[in-house]
Amino acid sequence: MYLTPGPSPIADADLCGWATRVYGESLGIRSDNMVKKDYFGESIAERYDEGAAAMSTPEVVRPVVDFLARLAGEKRALEFGIGTGRIGLPLHETGVPVDGVDLSGAMLARLRAKPGANSIHAVEGDFATTKMDRTYGLVFVVFNTINNLTTQDGQLACFQNAADHLEPDGYFVVEVGVPKLRMLPPGENLHAFHLSETRWGIDEYHFATQEFTSHHFALRDGELVRMSIPFRYVFPEELDLMAKVAGMSRVGRWAGWEHEPFTDESTKHVSVWKKDSHTRP
Ligand SMILES: C[S@@+](CC[C@H](N)C(=O)[O-])C[C@H]1O[C@@H](n2cnc3c(N)ncnc32)[C@H](O)[C@@H]1O
Repeated sequence: MYLTPGPSPIADADLCGWATRVYGESLGIRSDNMVKKDYFGESIAERYDEGAAAMSTPEVVRPVVDFLARLAGEKRALEFGIGTGRIGLPLHETGVPVDGVDLSGAMLARLRAKPGANSIHAVEGDFATTKMDRTYGLVFVVFNTINNLTTQDGQLACFQNAADHLEPDGYFVVEVGVPKLRMLPPGENLHAFHLSETRWGIDEYHFATQEFTSHHFALRDGELVRMSIPFRYVFPEELDLMAKVAGMSRVGRWAGWEHEPFTDESTKHVSVWKKDSHTRP
C-alpha cells in the first residue's frame, strides 16, 4: 500500500500501518471522487503526527538522521516534502541547517509551530519545480513521497530539480518502496493491504500507466466513507535512469537506513546518487 500523500507506495509494514492510521482517521473527508492535489490539507495535517507516531520514535528516526547527517557533513540540506518535520527537524537539531519544500500549507503550519523550527526555511510549493535561492550538499525525499508525483515526467522533474539544487559532488537520497507487483496473481490488479472490523484498504494497480490508486474505506458513525489517492510506482532501476538523465550517478542502495543489503526480497530501498562533478548548478 502506498501512502504518501505522502507516502505511499508503501512498501513495508510500518509504512502500511502509518497510511492506514493517518488516512483511516482522516476519512471524515467524504468523497466519491478521486481526491485531487493537496492530500495533506487541514484534516490530514491535524492528525499526521499522531498517525505517524510509530514512524517518529527515536528508534526509527535516529538511523535516518544519522544516515543523512553523515552525507550532509558541514553543508546545508534540503528536504522535498518536509511535512511536519518528522525527519527534517531532528536532522536540523544535529546541527545540519535544513530547508524544506512542501505543497501543504497545513503541514508546514504544524512544522512551524514546533520548537526549533523557526530556523528552518520551509517554502510552500511543488518539489518537482520549486526553486530555492541557494544550493545544498544534500537533497532528500523520504517515506515514499516521490510516489506522490503521478507521472514519469513529474518524477524526472523532481530528479532534475534535486540536481539543480546540489553543489557538485552533493547527494540526492530517496526512500521508497519496491513496487509490490510480485504479490499479484496473474490477471489480478487489486491488493488488499488492510482489513479490520472498521477499515479496509485496497490498492488498485493500473499497469498500462504505471499508476496505482490506494482506496481507503472506513466505517464512521455507521456510515461508510471513502478516500482514494493516486500514486505512481517506480522501480529502482528507473530511478537510476532518471538520476543519470539529471546528471547524477548512484553511489549506494540499501534496504534500510542502517545499510541493510538490498536483495531480491527487499520491500523498500534507500538510494543515494551523487551529482556528477562536471555538472554545474
Ligand atoms: C507522507 S508525508 C511525509 C512528510 C515527512 N517527510 C515525513 O517523513 O514525515 C508527504 C509530504 O509530502 C508533501 N507532498 C506531496 N506531494 C508533494 C509535491 N508534489 N510537492 C511538495 N510536497 C509534496 C505532502 O504535503 C506531505 O507533507
